[in-house]
Amino acid sequence: MKAHLLIFSLFVTLESAVSAQDVNDSIDHKVQALLAQMTLEEKVGQMTQIDFSVVSVVNGEEAEAPIEQGKLYDALLNHHVGSILNTPTTPNNQVQPIEKWRKMTQAIREATAQTRLKIPVIYGIDAIHGANYTENAVLFPQAINMAATFNTDLSFKEGEITAREVKASGQDWNFSPVMDIGRQPLWPRLWETYGEDVHLAIALGSAYINGHQGDDFAAADKAPTCLKHFVGYSYPLNGKDRTPAWIGERMLREYFLPTFAAGVKAGSPTVMINSAEVDGIPGHANYQYLTTILRGEMGFKGFTVSDWADIERLYSRDKMAASPREAVKIAVMAGIDMSMVPFDYSFYDLLLDLVKTGEVPVARIDEAVSRILRVKYQSGLFERTEPTLAVAGNFSTKEANAINRQAAQESIVLAKNDNHILPLKKHTSVLVTGPTANLLSVMNGGWTLTWQGASEHLYPQDKLTLFKAIQKKTKGKVTHVGGNAFADEINVEQAVSEARNHDVVVLAIGEKTYTETPGNIDTLNLDQNQLNLAKALLATGKPLILVTLGGRPRIITEIAESAQAVVLGFLPGMEGGQALADILFGDVNPSGKLPISYPRNTNDIVMYDHKPIEAFEFNQYQPLYGFGHGLSYTTFETNGLALSKDKIVLGENINVSVNVKNTGGLTGKEAVLVYLNDVAASVTRPVKQLKAFKKVELQPGQQQTLQFTLTPEDLSFIGIDMKRVVEPGEFKVMVGNETVHFHVVKN
Ligand code: BGC
Repeated sequence: MKAHLLIFSLFVTLESAVSAQDVNDSIDHKVQALLAQMTLEEKVGQMTQIDFSVVSVVNGEEAEAPIEQGKLYDALLNHHVGSILNTPTTPNNQVQPIEKWRKMTQAIREATAQTRLKIPVIYGIDAIHGANYTENAVLFPQAINMAATFNTDLSFKEGEITAREVKASGQDWNFSPVMDIGRQPLWPRLWETYGEDVHLAIALGSAYINGHQGDDFAAADKAPTCLKHFVGYSYPLNGKDRTPAWIGERMLREYFLPTFAAGVKAGSPTVMINSAEVDGIPGHANYQYLTTILRGEMGFKGFTVSDWADIERLYSRDKMAASPREAVKIAVMAGIDMSMVPFDYSFYDLLLDLVKTGEVPVARIDEAVSRILRVKYQSGLFERTEPTLAVAGNFSTKEANAINRQAAQESIVLAKNDNHILPLKKHTSVLVTGPTANLLSVMNGGWTLTWQGASEHLYPQDKLTLFKAIQKKTKGKVTHVGGNAFADEINVEQAVSEARNHDVVVLAIGEKTYTETPGNIDTLNLDQNQLNLAKALLATGKPLILVTLGGRPRIITEIAESAQAVVLGFLPGMEGGQALADILFGDVNPSGKLPISYPRNTNDIVMYDHKPIEAFEFNQYQPLYGFGHGLSYTTFETNGLALSKDKIVLGENINVSVNVKNTGGLTGKEAVLVYLNDVAASVTRPVKQLKAFKKVELQPGQQQTLQFTLTPEDLSFIGIDMKRVVEPGEFKVMVGNETVHFHVVKN
């Protein structure tokens, strides 16, 4: 019986492998046949991506039918553009109803049908936490929160739901996930990352891609993803967006490349490029990164797209090129396949000229265009003439909103809970105050309805702010002191006198929304107004529950130490208010864990996987809350940590097992984290690194034994010669309070 099954499954596997190969061959065949028919102009057009505003009427965001036919025909028939991105734009109103999206994208499809070769446009959108420019889309917690869930199933489902809603909106391609590593907390896009740890980011990002693309992203409810921003963008030395990073090759290979390699392995067919520079070379000019490493080493077969206007900026900003024309040549020859120009046809004109004069070889154009066409075929765009996915049943469904709520709940970190002040009883009377207490924007962050996410009036009325969710939850008295905008001055005296009339104070502090350069800051310190409000409330002696919202770990040390409870919310998305109230009142047991080290002081930027020298003599890893920290209303214990062997031969795996037990009185979820340390190595190694994790739900008293496998890859590091190596010797495995050792020996 078993043998039959085995043969059958072998047969099925071989069958599907063969047919996948056939599909690839037939796509390559189609690409070559199409390429052979294309004029140079049509080819260069494929490499051109324009912003929606280029084909839009003035004030397209308000128009029923925002496309201006003449402009669209100019784009498609005269300039043969391969891709359009973004939404009808004004800075404060970008979100559009789904029906309008469907009509807009349909108009583009119909216009491409009138072009000579009928090559479809691939429509790109920044759906980074759901289809964020479509009204009423399911908007998830941002990536930093998804990482805090330590739940890859939720990331997979976010990918699935996002792809479905993007497709129901008529869009084709999502500029997500961000695979940059978040190791610079000042950076205004930290929250777009999965945090500071490589293993965690790989796990979450790969799950997202798998959900988004499925086995075949030509399916009606699947869509191609885009890994961004290759590479090193997230690590600006001064913390400001789009400023230089100085990343040595070893660090690049240890921390910054592996997430992208994993994204390529997961099948993401497109990569967006780092807008800034690393080691003096702008991302868009870096042949070594874009071609030698991405293609040669990682085997990436898809296409690369520039970031916003970044080819031209090689000239106007970086002073690397002597002219816009030279900038185009440098970028294309470095390995950029598509230019997000985005406002004109300068790239098209300049590249055409460069090819005609022989400065850019036709072979390079053919290579780039083949890659683009290939992804278009793989995405099923040639077969699709209208948005095939129905809205009903695919968009903003009850099930999807419920998953979003679960994601929000699991993404919130209970960092402190003195005297079990939380959960609050349902009749507790609560003063809710602070600048983030009554806004939806502060829970969603940038890329929400608008680029900066700040247009509170556009947020769906049926979603609850923290204050409104608390009001709904408690039977006790709830009072809100504060304004309806982040900048509204809060009357401290009024807040203090109201605090005296209530059992507890929930103080919601944090950041207003931002992304990219507008979010640059000069210090991680919280602004003085918020600290003053907190101190005045603490002085009343009423128990204070501090809730933080925002994309970065702003310094809260002095107030967190006196608060009874600290809840780190980061950017939990549209269900954030409800999820926070669920946790505050005990309807949900918190299970989020920090995906970053929360600094104690502004310059105290040390990651959990620091080098021994960073915690030697006077140096210490002393964050306010460490990576992986997060409390529950129950307690968990891990014990019995054991290895399958105490000695392995180079190249072998080793198995780890550990028991996890719910030792408290409530059902709860616990992420068990497995860390590794290479005890002595020829290149200094981190004191510990996360290598595996699993999240389980346990009833009170329930125990489960978890199994993990560590592979040679997990034991490896970038050696002296910049190649990945496993060195024989002693290794430590750590889970909770336990440590076990094993040795790797030569064959
Ligand atoms: C951002 C990218 C984004 C692109 C398109 C850029 O400014 O850096 O992350 O995908 O704009 O909107």
